[in-house]
Amino acid sequence: MNLNPIDQILSTWAREAVAGAFPDAGIDPESIGVVRASAEGFGDYQCNSAMPLAKTLRQPPRQIAEQIAAHAPLPEMVEKLELAGPGFINFYLKTEWLNERAGDLLKDERLGVPLTGVGTSVVIDYSSPNVAKPMHIGHIRSTVIGNALDRMHRFAGYEVVADNHLGDWGTQFGLMIMGYRHFVDEAALADDPIAELERIYVKSYNQSKEDENWLASAKAELVKLQQGDADNLALWQNFVDLSIAEFNRIYARLDVAFDLYRGESYYNDALPGVLAALEAKGVLVESDGAKIVDLEAEKLGVAMVQKSDGAFNYTTTDLATVQSRVAEFSPEAIIYVTDERQQLHFKQLFHVSRILACPARLVHVWFGLMRLPEATFSTREGNVIKLEALLDEAEARALEMAKAKSPEMPEADQAEVARALGIGAIKYTDLSQNPHSLVTFTWEKALDTKGNSAPYLQYSYARNRSVMDKYAARFPAADLDAFGIHLEEEIERKLVLKMAQFNEVFQAALGHYRPNLLADYLYELAQLNSSFYQNLPKFLDSDEGLRESRIKLCSLVAAILRRGLDLLGIRTPERI
Ligand code: ARG
Repeated sequence: MNLNPIDQILSTWAREAVAGAFPDAGIDPESIGVVRASAEGFGDYQCNSAMPLAKTLRQPPRQIAEQIAAHAPLPEMVEKLELAGPGFINFYLKTEWLNERAGDLLKDERLGVPLTGVGTSVVIDYSSPNVAKPMHIGHIRSTVIGNALDRMHRFAGYEVVADNHLGDWGTQFGLMIMGYRHFVDEAALADDPIAELERIYVKSYNQSKEDENWLASAKAELVKLQQGDADNLALWQNFVDLSIAEFNRIYARLDVAFDLYRGESYYNDALPGVLAALEAKGVLVESDGAKIVDLEAEKLGVAMVQKSDGAFNYTTTDLATVQSRVAEFSPEAIIYVTDERQQLHFKQLFHVSRILACPARLVHVWFGLMRLPEATFSTREGNVIKLEALLDEAEARALEMAKAKSPEMPEADQAEVARALGIGAIKYTDLSQNPHSLVTFTWEKALDTKGNSAPYLQYSYARNRSVMDKYAARFPAADLDAFGIHLEEEIERKLVLKMAQFNEVFQAALGHYRPNLLADYLYELAQLNSSFYQNLPKFLDSDEGLRESRIKLCSLVAAILRRGLDLLGIRTPERI
């Protein structure tokens, strides 16, 4: 079974065609490509390379397109080519070829996606909230997007190290320790640890603003902690443990798991070594008592690595983290997922890491913050949205939906479905947007069963499953393997063409770190699927053969929706 992606096969052909037609023009083959058609009426795939070639070749693009199109033979899958406009070449695929491709995909549990990552490891640094503080909306986005990238890499065969780089070290712990010793309410701490830790921190912080002695004591406690004082270390460890337990509750609800929880503290002993390495490279500069690396020439400002009081900082820790990960995992890439406010930090980090000869590719996947319109959430405390309250509300709203749609379903099943729909809706909102654009969250959009939402895709999946069940009940003796796929209607052809593109889209989403490309694709597929049902009502009554071909399409749609949603970390209940 050869499931090479269509765009690759056609691009290879186009490159040969260009090389054949213009052998001496020195054209870079990589500049020639064939892509999925951007609109209807322009074939299934298109080559737009004639236009940019016009300048190099000093010929009108249409003439260039003609010479490319004259190349023979056509790839086996191609029915015909058509020239359009100034020099577009449109490719029409053979329907028999699509029949066969659909059958092959149905037999392949990987749906045509090759294991390109085998033998390669990547570290993905995501979620990474700060101890003793609630996760904010940026951490949830990092968690959801990071986890999708994690799942996608694993599916492609990569060895993934999912590392939660907790903010568990820093100057706030002196204030925390003072606050704990003087203000802690043990009952509140047991009840809602992070809220109580935050409360004592804020109280201690405010006190330090008014009371110099308090501030001095907090600094002294910090120094004791950093020097390994047993009592203070035990308190700190308690803050970390309580926080991780809270975070884990959220991760469990989100179906997110990490391989490592290595907070900043893990790298503490390696920090002086980072300075020594920078010194050895001759890039460490003294500036007002602080130590910096000057990146002005790269227009990246200055990266401070040691403050004037001798303390190391976020950048120093991240430099040590890169070195440690490289030494331990030999990753091909280290991928960081955070909100947009950290772009300069990571540019500096990557630049300085390269000075230190880091062999891994360093990638910052950033996203804009999500806007929360006033009064979107029923539980708000100042500006902080309690994440758990958000998840609770999503599930409660989804439960109403599930009850309305399936009143006859047992209550336990309704609750299970509501969990999948509600959590899915939150995740999908984070995943389906271009990460660089500003998103406004609304419940109406997130839970819209008719629009671009997780519930819409989950309902599509369940609908296919239920049609498959109906088929099995009506034709219990049928052997589906004995039947092939025959595309008769235009809508079936469109559906199969879309499904044949799963791998192409997956590769783009993986290669560009953009789960939203996969989300868009699943939405388009589900829309075609719903037109399929609209155009072919009661297809279970059609003739034997046609009926089987169509049920096989339903089963392929289900497999792709299920796999695609799983890659996004979204569950697919069998029945809704
Ligand atoms: N703890 C940081 C924050 O909450 C995010 C850490 C991201 N990862 C890293 N290696 N810097 O903003």
